[in-house]
Amino acid sequence: MSEPLGKMWSGRFREPLDVAFEAWQRSFPFDWRLLPQEIAASKAHARMIAAAGILTENELAVMLRGLDAVISSEMDRAAKGHGRAAPAMVASSPAEDVHHFVELELTQQIGELALKLHTGRSRNEQIATDMRLFVRDAIDATLNKLQAWMKALIDQARKAGDAAMPSYTHLQRAEPVLVAHWLLAYVSMIERDYSRFVDARKRLNLCPLGSGAVAGATLALDRRIAADVLGFDGPTPNSMDATSDRDFALEFTQAASVLGIHISRFAEELTLYSTAEFGFLDLPETFSTGSSAMPQKKNPDLTELARGKSGRLLGSVVTLSTLIKGLPLAYNKDLQEGQEPVFDTVDTLDGILQVLPGFTAALRFRFDRMQAAAESGFLNAMAAATYLVHKGVPFRKAHEKVGNAVRYCVDKGCELGDLTLDELKQFGAEFEDDFFADVTLKATLDCHDVIGGTAMRQVKVALAAAKERLAALSGAVHAGA
Ligand code: ARG
Repeated sequence: MSEPLGKMWSGRFREPLDVAFEAWQRSFPFDWRLLPQEIAASKAHARMIAAAGILTENELAVMLRGLDAVISSEMDRAAKGHGRAAPAMVASSPAEDVHHFVELELTQQIGELALKLHTGRSRNEQIATDMRLFVRDAIDATLNKLQAWMKALIDQARKAGDAAMPSYTHLQRAEPVLVAHWLLAYVSMIERDYSRFVDARKRLNLCPLGSGAVAGATLALDRRIAADVLGFDGPTPNSMDATSDRDFALEFTQAASVLGIHISRFAEELTLYSTAEFGFLDLPETFSTGSSAMPQKKNPDLTELARGKSGRLLGSVVTLSTLIKGLPLAYNKDLQEGQEPVFDTVDTLDGILQVLPGFTAALRFRFDRMQAAAESGFLNAMAAATYLVHKGVPFRKAHEKVGNAVRYCVDKGCELGDLTLDELKQFGAEFEDDFFADVTLKATLDCHDVIGGTAMRQVKVALAAAKERLAALSGAVHAGA
């Protein structure tokens, strides 16, 4: 390299780049975040070329030390802390991208030897590797945070005990459920999300290094060396696919977007339940804000923002899918556009999951109001029909008879349990004295005595099982946390 700050590809060019174009096509303003991954991948590559006889043992040692020195602790912190603001050194560098930056800085550190690092490799395989490493770290961090949210929900479910609330279908009161049962519904969603990330991680964990620009490295590198050093399960099997594949990024954003959808449903419910109309919970002041105009307001900003940000998570999926779908094999510069949606997903998810467990733990439910709501509005009508079924009435007829009784109660302004036996008999001769015990709140809950149902004993079992599954997940430590 004749001048130290030259491009990585200037040899065949006679004219300098258009200034605006040069600035516009650079990725360093955002891909500097891949610096820790780029250094790790470069060290792995250095080991491979040393094993292939390109570097002596001593040169390898110098190069590894030099690469470590390129990333200052400040940059490492900024990159890992999902900083959106680049440290000064990064901001002032003329580098085209993170790969160029490392080469320039390494030259400063160790001189001419640095220029041997790019032997037998291409930025196409480097960016593919850096992104895999970055997404892998992001998945590990997400898994750990999901455990925290799951724990907060399980703790709330335990604290809710036998408290009941209405369940809704069509947002109309349907049947009573235990508050714990409702909370555990979200635990089920999180567990599916969790497994989606784990699954994506398995498919991601192959190493593109050694794939070259498109056809494979031009040196007989032992690709298993790099794969091992970087904690991959092995090398990718096809160089054309490896240098242009971004499925792992797409899958990560897809899993994040489904998680976002679940968070958004939770957020929507809590927003509703915190209204005066529902009054099922008091918003924690530590996670709410006031209004600059209306002094009485306590607004559910956290749940509203979480609901809003889920749209953004889906946006990344759309960007990536659209980006990838028309690309001929193999690498195309379009792929550079695939980085920012991933970064945005990581930052967005990181932000939400940083506040959601604390918010969930701070929720205080108004069990009295929930219970009262569960006791009115004929939530025991299905239990009443089931009572008749036990008396031998076919369900369709039982449904009709209870429906008639409900209509009568609506006119009268009372609940089914308030009717006298004589009144009930107008709707069916099968009604007897034992009817009243079968339509209490407790009986209405407990008649759902099936696996996954809301009967108290079933929910107790479900809660214990959820706790066990969480303990098993916590046992599996995720590296990047
Ligand atoms: N900054 C580029 C990217 O993110 C790195 C790969 C460049 N490769 C190339 N052949 N120009 O995709």
